[in-house]
Amino acid sequence: MELPFAESYKIKMVETIRRSTREEREQWIKVAKYNLFNLKSDQVFIDLLTDSGTGAMSDKQWSAMMIGDESYAGASSYYNLKNAIKNILDFNYFLPTHQGRAAENVLFSVLVKEGDYVPGNSHFDTTKGHIEFRKAHAVDCTIDEASDTELYHPFKGNVDTNKLDQFLAEHASKVPFVIVTITNNTAGGQPVSMECLKETYKIAQKYGKMVVFDSARFAENAYFIKIREKGYENKSIKEIVREMFSYTDAMTMSSKKDAIVNMGGFIAMRSEELFKKATVFNIMFEGYITYGGMSGRDMNALAVGLDEGTEFNYLETRIKQVEYLGNRLKEFGIPFQSPSGGHAIFVDANKVLPNIPKEQCRAQTLAIELYLEAGIRGVEIGTLLADRDPVTRENRYPKLEFLRLAIPRRVYTNNHMDVIAVALKNVFDRRDKITKGFRILSEAPIMRHFTVELERA
Ligand code: F0G
Repeated sequence: MELPFAESYKIKMVETIRRSTREEREQWIKVAKYNLFNLKSDQVFIDLLTDSGTGAMSDKQWSAMMIGDESYAGASSYYNLKNAIKNILDFNYFLPTHQGRAAENVLFSVLVKEGDYVPGNSHFDTTKGHIEFRKAHAVDCTIDEASDTELYHPFKGNVDTNKLDQFLAEHASKVPFVIVTITNNTAGGQPVSMECLKETYKIAQKYGKMVVFDSARFAENAYFIKIREKGYENKSIKEIVREMFSYTDAMTMSSKKDAIVNMGGFIAMRSEELFKKATVFNIMFEGYITYGGMSGRDMNALAVGLDEGTEFNYLETRIKQVEYLGNRLKEFGIPFQSPSGGHAIFVDANKVLPNIPKEQCRAQTLAIELYLEAGIRGVEIGTLLADRDPVTRENRYPKLEFLRLAIPRRVYTNNHMDVIAVALKNVFDRRDKITKGFRILSEAPIMRHFTVELERA
C-alpha cells in the first residue's frame, strides 16, 4: 500500500486557541462594525485573515534570532541577509525595509512620478496604493482566463504579453517599469509561468524598460513551475528561483510571506545607480542601510527563512495543505478560483450569494457569515478592497468578488482545514436564505477596507 502524505516537520511548541458561541460572535462582530479587522484575535478560532507574518518560525530561525547582531551599522546579521539574497536570488544590491509596502514606498519614491503608468498583473492593493498616491496609474494586464473561476489554467497569474506589448507601444514614454507579482495574489494566489516571465522581460527590454518583481510569494511560484511547467520537473526550487530572477532588474519583497518571518521586507536590484538613489529614501523612511526597518535578530531569522522557504519538502507540505482544503470544498460543490492557489483558497462570492445586490458587498457578507458560523476569519477581496476611483470617487466593482481563506505557514493542521470546509458548507447550504448584505457607514479616503464601518442593509 502506498504511504499517505504527511507534513515534513513535527511540532515543538503550541499555542492555545479558543472556540466561542454563536451568541458571543454575533455580539463581537456587531461591536466590530462588521469589519473583521476590528475583531480581537481571541474572538477568532481559526484565523485565515492573512498568511502574512502569521507563519510559525522553525527551531533554526529561533536560534538564529538569539545570535542577532544589534549594531546600528555593519551588523553581522545584515551580512547574513546580504549573503542569503546573493546566494538565493542573485542580487548584488539590497536595502532592508520593515515590510513589503515600505519597500514599495522607497523604490517608487525613486521611480514613479505623476502621470506615469505602471503595467503589471493585478497589482496588490498596497502596490496600487503607492502608485495612485503618486498620482500615477496601475494598468492591469493579467490574462483574461484569470477572471473565469471555473476554468483550469496552470498559470492563471500570467501577464497577457500581447496586452503589455500593445500598452507599451502606445505609452512607453510614460512607463517607468513593468511590475510582475509572483504569485498573483489578487487573481487567487495563481502562479506566473517561467515562459511568461521570460517573455515579459523580453518585451520590457524591447522598450528599454525595467522589470520589477513583487516577490512576496516567489517560492510558491517556483513550486508551481516545478510541478506544472514542462522542462522544470527535475530542477530544484533554488535552481528555478535563480532562473526566475534572471528575468528581472529589481524586486520588492514582503518577507512576511515566503521568507516565513513575522516582520520584514527588502528591495534588491542589479543597478548600483538605482541602489544609490533608493538609499536616500531608505534612510529617510526606514533606517540606515544596514538595518532598514529591521532588528538584527529579525534579519538573521529572515536569512534562514529564505533558505527554508525555498526547500521543496517545506513547499510541498504547504501547498498540499491549501490543495487539501480546496478538494474538500470541491466535494461540497462550493465554487472557488480553481485550481487552488499557493497561499489561499478564493471562494467565488458572486456564485455563492448572487441574490445580494453588488452594492451590498457579497464577499464581505460571506466572510461575516463564515465568522458567525464557526469563528473563522477570512478576508474580503472584492468591492471594499477595490475602493473608489481616485478621480471620479465612484465605487469600483471588480469582476470577481472573493472571500479569501489564507492559510498561515506551518500553523494549522488538516483537522482545522476540515472544520473550515464543513463550516463553509453549512453557510453554502443556507445560501438562499442570505439575501441582504451590508451598507457602508464610514470609510477612509484610501485603502478603506482596513477601517471601514458597516451596518446591515
Ligand atoms: N505585495 C503582495 C503581493 C502582497 O500580498 C502584499 C501583502 C504586499 C505586497 C505588501 O506587503 O504587507 O509586508 O507590507 N499582502 C498581505 C496579504 C497583507 O494579506 O495578502 P506587506
